[in-house]
Amino acid sequence: MVNSVLDRLMPAPLCLAPMVGLTHFAVRSAIQEYLPEGVTTLWPTEMLNSRRVPREEMNDRPETFMLDARHGLCPQLLGNEELPIRDSIAKLESWGACAIDINMGCPVQKALSHNYGVALMGDIDYAARVTEFAVRHAKVPVSVKMRAGLQKDEEFLVRFVKAIEDAGASWITLHPRSAEQKRRGRADHSQVRRVVSELRIPVIANGDVQTAQDAFDLMGQTACARVMVGRAFVARPWILRELRRDPMTGQLSLDSSERLSAQQEAREYGRFVRRVIEISYDTYRPEDVARRLRFFVYHGHRWLDFGHAFYAAMSGLKEKQAFLDCTEQFFLQPLSMQSHTQLRG
Ligand SMILES: Cc1cc2nc3c(=O)[nH]c(=O)nc-3n(C[C@H](O)[C@H](O)[C@H](O)COP(=O)(O)O)c2cc1C
Repeated sequence: MVNSVLDRLMPAPLCLAPMVGLTHFAVRSAIQEYLPEGVTTLWPTEMLNSRRVPREEMNDRPETFMLDARHGLCPQLLGNEELPIRDSIAKLESWGACAIDINMGCPVQKALSHNYGVALMGDIDYAARVTEFAVRHAKVPVSVKMRAGLQKDEEFLVRFVKAIEDAGASWITLHPRSAEQKRRGRADHSQVRRVVSELRIPVIANGDVQTAQDAFDLMGQTACARVMVGRAFVARPWILRELRRDPMTGQLSLDSSERLSAQQEAREYGRFVRRVIEISYDTYRPEDVARRLRFFVYHGHRWLDFGHAFYAAMSGLKEKQAFLDCTEQFFLQPLSMQSHTQLRG
């Protein structure tokens, strides 16, 4: 039964996470190719600064290419001031955004010193006001992506999410690590379960999911509405095909016929990397590509046996054909992918 805005916008069980340097058009487009026919999900951008978006020339740099807006774009905004957020929302909506996400999770020092990102979790009333004015200025639904808080304090987290719900957010995404943890340690998904039990709006769980089975288990353990996958999606995007959600009943199932062996996964990873290379060079200015491709492989290679050798081989390259040849060559050898790796950084 369709019962929330999220059900309408995101029938799929999984979506990609916003990630600076990774969640750009080329990577989104290559991942979209793994979405089963007829299924839709939400596609974030990396966080966009609300002071910059209103003056920004769109489709001008990889972060702002939104040629895939028809696929359900949910751009993420970083900010805490009403006018820049209002003007950014208007611009993003005219560009085709079907929802807007507000970042209340970024823990880098710059965000803390500007009082946005996870710094907003230090002041419940102010965070609620930011949500309220974003909702007031938006024609599309507004969501908030957050961490567990500045420190681990579950009672504070519950008060915080309730204030965000009352302020009009259509759903929240929770990455249950504290600000001080950054991406270290493990995500504590017991906090997702608690928050789900306290809210009426849907909760998307995020953090440390590496396989379709992980996502399936997480949904069972926490009763979250959906799962957001970050780092593992730049290595193993085909898990989009393995996990199904019945749009009418919400029932989840793992499709074992879509499951790839460790060797098939390695070959598929090679194909996926080639698609990202092709789309990047077909879309971006050549000078915008090489560094981004290396960053993409830096995060994705960790599941691949001898992935460090692949990353090293990609490191000095600049031209499209050199990247394609290097990938082609590397994946000629028999390789396999680990189901899990140590997630760092
Ligand atoms: C390179 C990188 C950049 C990130 N940038 C953002 C961002 O722009 N906005 C955001 O909300 N989270 C950002 N994150 C956090 C991810 O969205 C996600 O919450 C985190 O990686 C945990 O999910 P995962 O274990 O599935 O990767 C970033 C993570 C990484 C690895």
